[in-house]
Amino acid sequence: MACTCVVGLQWGDEAKGKIVDLLTAEHDYVVRYNGGANAGHTVVWGPRIFKFSLLPTGILHERVHAVIGNGVVVYPPRFREEVEQLRAAGVSAGDNLIVSDHAHVIFPYHMEEGRLSEEENGSALGTTGRGIGPCYQDKVGRVCGIRVGDLLDETTLRDRLNAIVPRKNRILQALATNGSTVRFFEAETLAAEYRGYGEYLRPYVTDTTHLLHRALQGNKRLLFEAAQGSLLDVDHGTYPYVTSSNSSPAGIWSGSGVPARRLDRVIGVIKAYTTRVGRGPFPTELNDSIGERIRRTGREYGTVTGRPRRVGWLDAVAGRYTALITGADEIAVTLLDVLSGLPELSICTGYQVEESGRKVPIDYPSDPKRFARCRPIFERLPGWTENVSNARRLADLPAAARRYLDRISELVQKSVTFVSVGADREQTIRS
Ligand code: IMP
Repeated sequence: MACTCVVGLQWGDEAKGKIVDLLTAEHDYVVRYNGGANAGHTVVWGPRIFKFSLLPTGILHERVHAVIGNGVVVYPPRFREEVEQLRAAGVSAGDNLIVSDHAHVIFPYHMEEGRLSEEENGSALGTTGRGIGPCYQDKVGRVCGIRVGDLLDETTLRDRLNAIVPRKNRILQALATNGSTVRFFEAETLAAEYRGYGEYLRPYVTDTTHLLHRALQGNKRLLFEAAQGSLLDVDHGTYPYVTSSNSSPAGIWSGSGVPARRLDRVIGVIKAYTTRVGRGPFPTELNDSIGERIRRTGREYGTVTGRPRRVGWLDAVAGRYTALITGADEIAVTLLDVLSGLPELSICTGYQVEESGRKVPIDYPSDPKRFARCRPIFERLPGWTENVSNARRLADLPAAARRYLDRISELVQKSVTFVSVGADREQTIRS
């Protein structure tokens, strides 16, 4: 398989990092194509735990090239922090890390813009506060975008910032609501700071589109690592409660320059239950002691923001939809171990909305208002009491856990090829 993609089928945090890590050894390049430091990947590497928000997970494999594609938005201070974290741990992040010169750059005014617009709208979206949306807005708006390549040239960077920063300060002023304090910026100060980051980034920067095509011509194997989940995709997710990029494989073509038809295998990652961070409809949400228990056992707190994640039962309607739009060939079910000990489990097999006093069954709705009105139809399945974290084959699992996996597979209409029963690499069943 030349090109594989690992993608989330829910609202992010599906433990994609672990599946990417397992597959990295079978690939030559690991490529991030969307998002920025809003993502959170936790990788357990022997006794060490690494948390990345910007670098591709594949960075830990020194033989593999880890690529930050043009569709990613790069926050240089975070880039430096993560590279230094690796160096401190003795992992060389040098030749194998590559950053696109076309990737857009996040500046502190993006974070300020994001903060003020959330403040103005009463935290309407519940973003991660990393300046992701404002940076993508500047990319698409074309007037204020700055790319990684621009950081490498002092004159270009200074000219761009001298034109952009006064405009940004006016926008920040306009966004401020009564009583909010606004941080304003100074072009020359930012230019000096980001020139420094430019020099730090310089050895890693290249035109990654050409690089990836040369790799394909040389029969190299590429692994695309999606950030966030497909329900957060700006086009196909639960808009407006989404992120600002294509977190489904739709983003691969635009975010790396590798055409979609080069993709041979899409692995959809789905947690054995559902979580969501931030605002937006969540039909299977559990606001009770079961939800609290799952949150605690699954350590469902944001890697980036530390916020407690909202928790709910597995939603097979949403899973079937994202399996469709991602073109998933197979699914990886993660965090199955977290459900051990629950006497009974529920899976959402359908939605219904109330219309003219009648309950009407509907499929996954594209209209967000209708989605907010969806009520889940649950099917109940028996739970299991056994600890499953030592299972290495499907046959090691209790019958109820196997039944649960079979039912997910039937409802999502894809085969389950990976089951994760713990954070370690070994705690994986491949079928
Ligand atoms: P933004 O990506 O910071 O603009 O946030 C938009 C929405 O996406 C918010 O609800 C965030 O909580 C959510 N989000 C962004 N990145 C992730 C992620 O990696 N995991 C889960 N949710 C995320």
